[in-house]
Amino acid sequence: MMEYRDLRVALLGAGSVGSQVAALLLEHREELAGRIGAGIDLIGVAVRDLDAPRDAEIPAELLTTDAESLILGADIVVEMIGGLEPARELIRLALTSGADVITANKALLATHGPELFELAGQVGAQLYYEAAVGGAIPIIRPLRDSLAGDRVVRILGIVNGTTNYILDRMDREGDSLESALAIAQQLGYAEADPTADVEGHDAAQKAAILASLAFHTAVPLEAVHREGITAVTHAQVVAAREAGFVVKLLAVCERLADPETGEEGVAARVHPALVPATHPLASVRGANNAVFLQAEAAGDLMFYGAGAGGVQTASAVLGDLVSAARRHVIGGPGVAESTHADLPVLPMSAVTTRYQVTLQVADRPGVLAAIATLFSEHGVSVEAVQQSVPTVTVDDGREVALPTATLVIGTHAATEAALAATVDALAASDSVAEVSSVLRVEGVAS
Ligand code: NDP
Ligand code: HSE
Repeated sequence: MMEYRDLRVALLGAGSVGSQVAALLLEHREELAGRIGAGIDLIGVAVRDLDAPRDAEIPAELLTTDAESLILGADIVVEMIGGLEPARELIRLALTSGADVITANKALLATHGPELFELAGQVGAQLYYEAAVGGAIPIIRPLRDSLAGDRVVRILGIVNGTTNYILDRMDREGDSLESALAIAQQLGYAEADPTADVEGHDAAQKAAILASLAFHTAVPLEAVHREGITAVTHAQVVAAREAGFVVKLLAVCERLADPETGEEGVAARVHPALVPATHPLASVRGANNAVFLQAEAAGDLMFYGAGAGGVQTASAVLGDLVSAARRHVIGGPGVAESTHADLPVLPMSAVTTRYQVTLQVADRPGVLAAIATLFSEHGVSVEAVQQSVPTVTVDDGREVALPTATLVIGTHAATEAALAATVDALAASDSVAEVSSVLRVEGVAS
């Protein structure tokens, strides 16, 4: 077999992930060369501060602040800087100069992905991004390659480790959101600005990437409905557990019929949801991630593992590096992203799901009937109602019932538009003192 020259790899960034990529690359150089059929030569590591402490040892002579010159001498560029700029311009420079690019930058891909994929296609290079969703979990390649012959119908994903860690601690340790977030930050799971995690931006970026791949349709970030976990209360988490559910921040990507035309479209959304305690996603604990996927022929599949962490994420980056290097050895252009289906991306109002609505209502005859009528008038079918009358202990030790009752109403599947109209009507009703919680229920057959 013909000997192939060593491939020159430029690494941009040596933070949590980049430093581990450098360490693994240097440590396993020989073994990787055997798998690739060519040597890998790490020609340099671009950083901002040459003297900053590193999580893993990187030879000082490899460090540089001149990212552009490094890129121009490379066959493969690994972007581990994060954020939109200068990552976007540096990736554009790398692709234009003919290098393949590996990135874990979900914010950049969700915002400028189409532009970068188009550029890669024009120059015959390839953009790899396995680490951008689910950290160490292989999910991009299974969607792009292994499931390319199937039709993915639905994805339910826990794709943000920080929020899963927080919700898990609220449930198991009784922590507040704030104290659980502080620990998640110390453990290095959270983004530099943790609002990206708790407000659902990070999960929405990942949902846009997953939906685009799964449905062969460009799903822009702005089309992803997003709600974070800041409104989730400890009381909701406890009530969910007592009712046989857990609260999870889910990314839901699905095919659905446009309610107006009946034609097939797709939608992507991120929000807290009730998941039955028996569903495989309910057992995803701590900062782990999981993607539960339903495909027409394959049926149900679940991908599970570490969703964040430097060395774990570096595993996915090195997998991409081996793929990119093998492509150099074999030759031929990169494989373009497929958006051939170009399905309409539908708004949140078109989504159909189940709901659990918790109300404080006047405890008097006829109220239940009045509330049931409001649901049915808006086309939302009630599946189950649970009523409880809270009591207080007064000074002489007696238990006295409060004048309001708590109603927990579970619905059959209804559109978001119908549910929103029902909630408005409930809030305006004399019988309802307060709509205290509305949560979507996922992972239950409709
Ligand atoms: P860090 O913030 O830890 O590291 C960023 C690195 O980029 C630092 O080494 C920094 O240099 C360098 N850098 C910043 N700006 C420049 C610049 N202008 N030129 C050259 N170098 C620069 O980020 P992470 O390692 O956590 O994340 C990297 C990417 O991986 C991001 O896209 C992130 O979203 C993604 N990701 C991260 C995961 C994680 O668990 N951390 C999981 C999955 C994906 P210096 O050190 O000198 O300041
Ligand atoms: N902040 C992200 C998370 C890092 O918590 O999942 C991994 O993308």
